[in-house]
Amino acid sequence: MTVLVDVRDLSVRFRLPRGTTVRAVSGASFQLRAGRCLALVGESGCGKSVLVGALLGLLPGNAEVAGTAALTDGVGRVDLLTAPEPVLARQIRGRRIGLVPQSPTAHLTPVHTVRRHLTETLATLRPTIGRPTRRRRRAADLAAVEAGARVGLPASALDHYPHELSGGMAQRAVTALALAGDPEVLLADEPTTGLDAPLARRTLDELRHLVDLGHAVLLITHDLDAAARIADDIAVMYASRIVETGPVETVLHRPRHPYTAGLLAALPRNGFHPIPGLPPQLDSLPDGCAFEPRCQRAGAECAQVPLAATDGGHLVACHRPC
Ligand SMILES: Nc1ncnc2c1ncn2[C@@H]1O[C@H](COP(=O)(O)OP(=O)(O)O)[C@@H](O)[C@H]1O
Ligand code: SF4
Ligand SMILES: [Mg+2]
Repeated sequence: MTVLVDVRDLSVRFRLPRGTTVRAVSGASFQLRAGRCLALVGESGCGKSVLVGALLGLLPGNAEVAGTAALTDGVGRVDLLTAPEPVLARQIRGRRIGLVPQSPTAHLTPVHTVRRHLTETLATLRPTIGRPTRRRRRAADLAAVEAGARVGLPASALDHYPHELSGGMAQRAVTALALAGDPEVLLADEPTTGLDAPLARRTLDELRHLVDLGHAVLLITHDLDAAARIADDIAVMYASRIVETGPVETVLHRPRHPYTAGLLAALPRNGFHPIPGLPPQLDSLPDGCAFEPRCQRAGAECAQVPLAATDGGHLVACHRPC
């Protein structure tokens, strides 16, 4: 499968006043491939949204980003981490990489209807629609209805303002916006948060449909069942680091990192055995393995950060894997 985004050793730090440094992402490496879904799972605050923000150049000015993230097509490649803002704005965001943001209503302009959001986005992304004529308005309107219908947004919802939308409808509206430019890569940041179970399942199935059409999807979630439902591969993140990566079946049935094993044991169907303790603050990470205070397998060597070792496509960063 074609690699569309190749992320190597991505790190993000935020420098705060009084000399504090938040290490939000540390040495993350993964690939997004056409026709495959990678789930990035981990507890709240472990760095998932910051990682997505780094790929799209959406981080605030105090972020220091290192590593590479090559977006490739048949013609060439661009490093998302160093591309100038005009390139990201005019060629990448929305056109080649779509974002379904974590907070849909925060992402929508409160005084614009869904129809206006869609028509303006479509006019920007598809300039042929953009000439200010009656025909253009009709074309933009038809395209907006089509874009909404593609993600199950009824035409009746198009004339609503963001505050009038249910959580599910707002989710569909931002998904329609993310797909308006037909990007080959979709980054979906917690797309089922706040949705009831049937709607969450439908949203996931729609994402899987996009994968089956050949898109590369990064599904960010803290829900292992969501990952199991639609992902091909999974990356487990803990305290800014990806600690285990591999085919979703393998990782969820034979986890090798104690944190992944702990997440699975905490599921109600596995007896609800929560991992003791709490994740560390990212402004005071230990020098060694960040999971050490919570890990029953820890030993003296865990005072050093473990390097990732691979076993046939199953990567684990742990001195004493399960
Ligand atoms: N602009 C910022 N300045 C400082 N710290 C930040 C900033 N944005 C995010 N963080 C911190 O980065 C860490 C990771 O956040 P985030 O990626 O949003 O987590 P999540 O995994 O829940 O998506 C958190 O500790 C958060 O407080
Ligand atoms: S490196 Fe050590 S402390 Fe960290 S998860 Fe593995 S065994 Fe546990
Ligand atoms: Mg987040």
